[in-house]
Amino acid sequence: MTNRIFRLGLGLLLAGLASSALAAATPDAALAPRGAYVARAADCAACHTAPGGKPYAGGYAIASPLGAIYATNITPSKNAGIGNWSEAQFARAVREGVAADGHRLYPAMPYAEYSGMTDEDVHALYAYLITQVAPVDKAPTQRTQLGFPYNLRSLMAGWNLLFLDRQRNTPAAGASPQLARGRYLVDVLGHCGSCHTPRNLFMASDRGAYLAGGDVDGWHAPNLTSDPVSGIGGWSEDELAGFLRNGHAPGKAQAAGGMAEAVEHSLRYLSDDDLHAIAAYLKSVPAKARPGQTQPAYTFGQTAERAYDFDNAQSATTLAAIGKARAAAADVEAQRSNVAGVTDGAILFDSACASCHQPSGSGTADHYYPSLFHNTVTGAATPNNLVMAILRGVSRQGADGAAFMPGFAGDMDDGQVAAVANFVAAHFGNPALTVTAGEVAQLRVGGPAPAIQRAMPWLMGGAILVVLLAIALAARLVRRKRSP
Ligand code: HEC
Ligand code: HEC
Ligand code: HEC
Repeated sequence: MTNRIFRLGLGLLLAGLASSALAAATPDAALAPRGAYVARAADCAACHTAPGGKPYAGGYAIASPLGAIYATNITPSKNAGIGNWSEAQFARAVREGVAADGHRLYPAMPYAEYSGMTDEDVHALYAYLITQVAPVDKAPTQRTQLGFPYNLRSLMAGWNLLFLDRQRNTPAAGASPQLARGRYLVDVLGHCGSCHTPRNLFMASDRGAYLAGGDVDGWHAPNLTSDPVSGIGGWSEDELAGFLRNGHAPGKAQAAGGMAEAVEHSLRYLSDDDLHAIAAYLKSVPAKARPGQTQPAYTFGQTAERAYDFDNAQSATTLAAIGKARAAAADVEAQRSNVAGVTDGAILFDSACASCHQPSGSGTADHYYPSLFHNTVTGAATPNNLVMAILRGVSRQGADGAAFMPGFAGDMDDGQVAAVANFVAAHFGNPALTVTAGEVAQLRVGGPAPAIQRAMPWLMGGAILVVLLAIALAARLVRRKRSP
């Protein structure tokens, strides 16, 4: 432990020296194009630009399970942004989570991942933000106000001591330049693990389950390890690169939720070489299997060749189920235009989904409306993304065009969402996948509370107990000293 602290101290000292070397430089506009690319790859705008707001002016709410955390204004404004920050102060915020005035940032700002950013990239990023971004002289109106004890920002110092130094980006010895670049893009700039690696009790990445799949705001960011069943082992490098660029891989997956944002704001702008470096690196990540999963999520349902053949066994079963439900229903036409009160999954599917995904679930031949079989969402081991896609829909701009599916959160209650999700999973996806109305209710509000929040009453109770014991002990010592 002392050794760790010593190493950390030494690291901070060296970082300090490196930072003061950086401070001497003035922003160099010639570096701005490189800085703009770093900003894209690191997806700074995704959080620091509010929907419809000015670039980098802040105000976007990151839905943390502990409450909303608002990203700040990082335009070069002198009164509301980072216009007065030196490069050393900027570097410290990005890599160590400490703002210019010394306050600690919450790890919602992914500094634990950015801690591995190279000096050259920080330098170029600073040049870009200071010289190319239009200053916005207004701080976001929303301010982060987490409840006690999370409002104590100094607690983050302890968090950093425990979790920050572990994430330094050091490529494996002997890694090829492509794999080293891929790892840098995945771990540092792309901070893929902030969603795809599960969190431990303290909301830090669980390094033992690196890229093995994590939960974010109700969505499940799937396993990206090379495991052929639970991970991306069965994807080709081209499929992965295409998915990152366009947001969809026909016959495998589509990007919604946080992944849609990563594609829209960041990944679709990356060079082909960088996307292939990411894909090659992911395929080299040691496999981590999900216990109990026996079949890749994208292999459920009929084969891709038969997907548009409406006259096959699977489509026939689905159409028969819909027909039967329709025959039993009282007023079919009314239900088609209004799903209020409809509880049957087949009718809900026919009314709300089949117009785009087709009654057979096959989607359209151009894949604009994707098939619901051979789809990692419907064949998944958890119902999260199926439910979230139904609730929130899909909205994404990729390199090859836009994708839009409406969300049904306002039209369907929890029971209806569960019914249509169960129908879809049973007919097109993993038949073992089921979801209850209660689970839908939980996903609607962003998924179950994290362990730290559930444990907090106990932790707090424990902390108070320790403090009381310490006071009691001190009091006894004082009394003993006084009495001769
Ligand atoms: C996943 C969301 C997210 C991404 C991506 C992100 N940030 Fe942040 N950033 C935040 C949040 C949230 C805060 C405020 C944290 C707080 O209040 O503790 C913040 C704070 C900051 C601050 C401190 C500003 C201040 O006024 O205190 C700087 C500087 C900053 N970010 C720069 C960047 C840069 C540069 C990038 C890209 C390399 C980036 N951020 C990417 C969410 C993000
Ligand atoms: C903000 C959270 C977030 C970040 C950051 C993120 N992802 Fe994702 N990713 C997701 C979610 C959620 C899904 C599931 C999307 C869906 O099914 O609609 C996903 C899906 C994927 C898939 C498809 C997997 C499958 O089995 O369907 C791949 C591949 C992927 N992400 C790669 C990456 C890479 C590489 C990065 C970093 C460059 C990254 N992601 C960054 C949240 C994220
Ligand atoms: C207006 C057309 C439309 C309707 C109606 C519609 N969808 Fe979609 N759906 C889409 C499009 C477009 C996509 C995304 C395609 C892409 O990303 O390339 C999509 C994607 C999906 C996905 C994959 C989501 C992911 O995260 O990967 C699922 C699952 C899905 N839809 C199920 C449904 C269900 C169930 C319903 C009915 C409750 C429904 N859709 C209604 C057009 C529609």
